[in-house]
Amino acid sequence: MTAGTSSRGAPSMKDVALHAGVSLGTVSNVINRPQMVSERTRLRVQAAIDELGFVRNESARQLRGGGSRTLAYVVLDTSNPFFTDVARGVQDAADDAGLAVYLCNSGEDTAREGFYLDLLEQQRVEGVLITPVDASDPRITALAARGTPVVVVDRGAGPGRCSVAVNDVLGGDLAVTHLLETGHRRIAFVGGPRAIGQVADRISGAELAVERAGEGELTILETAALNVAEGRRAGERLAGLPAARRPTAAFCANDLLALGLLQQMVRLGLRVPDDLAIVGYDDIDFAEAAAVPLTSVSQPRQLLGRTAAELLLAESRDGDRHEHQQLVFAPELVVRASTRLRPT
Ligand code: RIB
Repeated sequence: MTAGTSSRGAPSMKDVALHAGVSLGTVSNVINRPQMVSERTRLRVQAAIDELGFVRNESARQLRGGGSRTLAYVVLDTSNPFFTDVARGVQDAADDAGLAVYLCNSGEDTAREGFYLDLLEQQRVEGVLITPVDASDPRITALAARGTPVVVVDRGAGPGRCSVAVNDVLGGDLAVTHLLETGHRRIAFVGGPRAIGQVADRISGAELAVERAGEGELTILETAALNVAEGRRAGERLAGLPAARRPTAAFCANDLLALGLLQQMVRLGLRVPDDLAIVGYDDIDFAEAAAVPLTSVSQPRQLLGRTAAELLLAESRDGDRHEHQQLVFAPELVVRASTRLRPT
């Protein structure tokens, strides 16, 4: 085995350094932090890598204490486009940093979420972004305490860690103010469980809008989850009410619920918006593409993901010098055909 080659005789980083006439650290920088070296040096080292056929030994690098050049995003439900849109923003930031992204789906299952957190720590990821099943889960704090940066996305903001979220009270206010301004007085809120912070905040915003208007009646239809099936079930419940008592509008806690509600209204022969106006939340691509394009409270999904990843990478880079930030973004109302001025 010649000096500096692996047991298989494959060229090592030392061989590349000797061949290129640079230090081992320069070769490492060319591979891991190319922005730290001149273009001339980078090309010289790359030529040596190509001529020798050097291939990085990733597991050896990690054993020497290097990170895995990956970050992870643990989400609640990959079937909800909200999370895959946020993940696209995470990917954009990771691409800029030359990192890969592990996307893990907890399925709102705390045991599976815990399994992923343990695995990601063993994999020595640069950091973990998470939309947690339970924001108070001590495993998340413990992971950060053992040295893996954690940023909470969308829910679970609090001191002691970075987080990104949207002002959901404002979002609920925007949705119901719009319905009141378009002439509705009997309004249903469709969403749940209320124990979820975002659901509670969206309800609070809806209640603020009714209180400020000094008129209107808000009926809460709590659901077991934030998905299409629960939206259909809420549609069954609303359609079963006597027309004189039935709400004329529904504000749904997310677009999946709104799409399920819309589907059920069509199935039951009720018209949207004429018999029931519908507002969703998130403004996923399917909101605009729906049979009756959905009015929705838009969340800046990719910006949430990119910002969260950039906070994570800053913490990984800056270590103890890092100062945590809890960033809150504003939602926007996007008005479409599913709500329309009611003839008085
Ligand atoms: O987790 C489901 C919902 O919570 C998403 O649709 C988004 O609104 C998030 O806040």
